[in-house]
Amino acid sequence: MDKKLVIAMVGLPARGKSTMARKIVGTLKLDEVNVRIFNNGDVRRRLSRGNTSGPELFSPENPAGVKFRDKCARINLESARDFLRNAGEVAIIDAANVTCRRRKLIKEIFPDLPVLFIECMNTDEEALEANLQRKASLKEFSHLSRRQALESFLRRIDFYERVYEPLNEERNFILIDSFEGFILQEKLTDLLPYYDRIRDLITTRIVRNLFLVRHGETYFNQENRIGGDSELTGKGLVQARGLAEYFAAERIPIIFTSNYKRTLQTAAPIAAKQEHCSIIALPEFNEIHAGVCEGMTYAEISERMPEVAAGRKNNKYDYVYPDGESYAAMEERIHRGLQKVFYLNNYDDNIMIVGHRAGNRMILSDFVFRPREEVPYIYMPQNRYYHIQIDPHKKIFELKPYVKRPSL
Ligand code: F6P
Repeated sequence: MDKKLVIAMVGLPARGKSTMARKIVGTLKLDEVNVRIFNNGDVRRRLSRGNTSGPELFSPENPAGVKFRDKCARINLESARDFLRNAGEVAIIDAANVTCRRRKLIKEIFPDLPVLFIECMNTDEEALEANLQRKASLKEFSHLSRRQALESFLRRIDFYERVYEPLNEERNFILIDSFEGFILQEKLTDLLPYYDRIRDLITTRIVRNLFLVRHGETYFNQENRIGGDSELTGKGLVQARGLAEYFAAERIPIIFTSNYKRTLQTAAPIAAKQEHCSIIALPEFNEIHAGVCEGMTYAEISERMPEVAAGRKNNKYDYVYPDGESYAAMEERIHRGLQKVFYLNNYDDNIMIVGHRAGNRMILSDFVFRPREEVPYIYMPQNRYYHIQIDPHKKIFELKPYVKRPSL
C-alpha cells in the first residue's frame, strides 16, 4: 500500500487543531514517519509581512480578504504537494478548512492521495473561554490591549461560524471533542495508511515534559496547620527563587496554579525569569478542603476531634472532612483541571503545575495507577519536583531536587 497520506484539520479557531496536529507529528515521528505540518496562518503572515491579525481580513463579505486567504491556502497546499511528491509521507494541513469549497480544493490538489479530515470541536464553554484568553495574549495581538485582542479574535471566530459547514460528504473523517479527548464521530471509506496509529493517539494522553511542583513553605506549614490561605515564609520565598533559577533554563510558557496565595507566590518568580510566561490559576487544583478542620494542626485534630483522626487513619482516601472533602471527592475536579491544562497548553511546550500536597498526589495518580489506599501517602516534598514524561514508548516519573547541593 502507498504510504502517503494527507491529513486536513477542520474546525473553528481555538478548538485545539494545532495542538492535535503537533501531537500527530510528535507521535508519528517516533515511528520514523516523515511528517510535516503546513499551516495557512504561517503563509499568510509571511506573505503579508505587515499585520494580518485584524478581523476584517476574515470577513466572507470582503472580496480582497477572501482572495488573499484563498491564495495563501493554495500556496500552502502546493508546498504540501511538493513535500509528498518527494520523501514526505504524511502532510498535515493546519487551517480552519470549515467550508466545503475549501475542502474540495484540498481534494483537487491531491487527486491521487487519500485525505483524512480531522475536525476538532469543543463544547466546554469554560475551557473555550480560557483558551480565547490565552490566544488574546499571543504575540500576534501584542499591539492591542487584552480586551481589544479578545474582541478582534471573537469577531474572527464569528466570521468563520457564518461560513462553517460540517463534515458530511467527505470520504474519511474523524470528529473529536478535543477537550474531553473523545472521538465523537468517524467515517472511513478508504484504506488509510497510519489510520490505527492516528486513531489511537487521539485518545492517548501524551506528556512531553510536565514539571509538578509543590508550593514553597508557608507559615501554616511551619506550624503544621492544614488548609487556609497562608503566605510563603522567608524559606518558602527562597525555595520559589531556587525554582525560578533552576527552571530558567527551560521554556515554560504557562504555569498552572491553584487559587491560593502560596501557589501563586511560588509561581511568580518562576514566571518572572521566563521570557514570556503566563500564570493561569485553576480552582480545580485547590488543596483538599478540610472543612471544619481548616486552620487546625494535626495535634489539635487528634485532641479535639479524635473521630476525624481515626476516620482518616482507617480510610484516608474516602474519609470526608466534616463540611469538607475527601481525596475521592477531588478525583473528578483534578481530572478536569488536567483536561484544561492539556487543552490550553501547546503540545510541544513544557507544562508546569504548582500545586499542593494532596492535590499533587491526585494529579500524579491521574497519570500512574496507584492503589487508592496508597495515594494519600505519596511523598510530596517541597524541595523537589516530579518530572513526568509519557509517550507511547515510555512512562517516566522522576523525583528531582531543584537546588544543586554545594560541592563538598
Ligand atoms: O499541610 C499542608 C496540606 O497541604 C494541607 O493543607 C492539607 O490538608 C494536607 O497537606 C494534605 O495532606 P494529608 O492528606 O496527608 O493530611
